[in-house]
Amino acid sequence: MHDKFTTLTPALYEYVVAHNPPPDAVLRDLAAETAALGPLSLMQIAVEQGAFLTFLARVLGARRAVEVGTFTGYSAISIARGLEPDGHLLCCDVNEEWTAIARRYFARAGLAERITLRLGPALDTLRALPSTPAIDLAFVDADKPNYRAYYEELLPRLAPRGVIVFDNVLWMGQVLDPADTADATQAIRALNDSLVRDERVEAVMLPVSDGITLVRRR
Ligand SMILES: C[S@@+](CC[C@H](N)C(=O)[O-])C[C@H]1O[C@@H](n2cnc3c(N)ncnc32)[C@H](O)[C@@H]1O
Repeated sequence: MHDKFTTLTPALYEYVVAHNPPPDAVLRDLAAETAALGPLSLMQIAVEQGAFLTFLARVLGARRAVEVGTFTGYSAISIARGLEPDGHLLCCDVNEEWTAIARRYFARAGLAERITLRLGPALDTLRALPSTPAIDLAFVDADKPNYRAYYEELLPRLAPRGVIVFDNVLWMGQVLDPADTADATQAIRALNDSLVRDERVEAVMLPVSDGITLVRRR
């Protein structure tokens, strides 16, 4: 069991990044501007995750996508770029300052028409969506204690071949530390434990970056 993974050293991580589609000037500039915000820039998804989200949107032929947690827009641009020509992405966030950066880069990427940013608690935004199963791709990367609630709103709205992607499911390894009883850690642990038993779905957890879980309806 334990010989089936390769520990990702910094050098090997650079190798992974070098063998993915490189971020273009828009994403590179966005990453640099986000890095200037300081430690909270760690919230941005990793380069290979951006490439993966674009790829996933493409293979799904996604037209309708929802993002919960947009920050400065890196994952949103990655998703929107993979959508079909008539596709649309709804972004949910509460922070005006960070999403103002996202809006600038959406425009620069030529994606302003294809992305709607809704400011307000994501749970309210999701509950206000039509209850029809129309979402082809959802990316969940906001406040961890609400992951479960986001899941329960997204699942009935997921198209038959749609996929929900949860980010940070390993929570930097904290899921394994029983002494960590923080709300976020407990919420992620509980969601991880319930998804493998949830008969409504098939869920696959992968050690990409801080861990991602992909969910589809059975
Ligand atoms: C980890 S960051 C998202 C990073 C983003 N996906 C990226 O790649 O740059 C989490 C975001 O969730 C937002 N957020 C936190 N609580 C929220 C809530 N209740 N509703 C909507 N967004 C929320 C924060 O404002 C923050 O921008």
